[in-house]
Amino acid sequence: MIPIHVLNGPNLNLLGRREPGIYGTATLADIERDLRAQAVGLNVDLTFRQSNHEGELVGFVQKAGLSGAGVLINAAAYTHTSVALRDAISGSGALAIEIHLSNVHAREAFRHHSFIAPVCAGVICGFGPMSYALGLDALARLMAARSGNPTDQTSS
Ligand code: DQA
Repeated sequence: MIPIHVLNGPNLNLLGRREPGIYGTATLADIERDLRAQAVGLNVDLTFRQSNHEGELVGFVQKAGLSGAGVLINAAAYTHTSVALRDAISGSGALAIEIHLSNVHAREAFRHHSFIAPVCAGVICGFGPMSYALGLDALARLMAARSGNPTDQTSS
């Protein structure tokens, strides 16, 4: 199976009630449930975590990267502030994809810069919970290609 850790940053525990006009009404539990269903078809072993604390997120990234797991990360506000998270991704060698529910480029200027994007394989934003689904699919394909063991979805 393909190990993938989905890591969620600060305030994402409030999804569903947090600024629904921007983030929608799905809760983080809803997103996790849908990803777990998707993971079965992708042969992905999914770990799903959320923290409001930068250091804890750094620990999650290190653990994933050092174990060889892929990282799908919505670092939330830390995207725009955290050198520590960027260094955790590059330092642990994690293959990572950055995701956001909202289109950060259509929002305030301070959300246009990401400290982690340069050390990620790619960025997906603006699709609501679908950003997670697209990110999981892309990361599973990248991980399978890296291991030289393409999934059925990538071999066609
Ligand atoms: C977010 C976008 C960030 O700018 C913001 O700080 C968040 C959520 C998103 O998923 O759209 O907390 O990462």
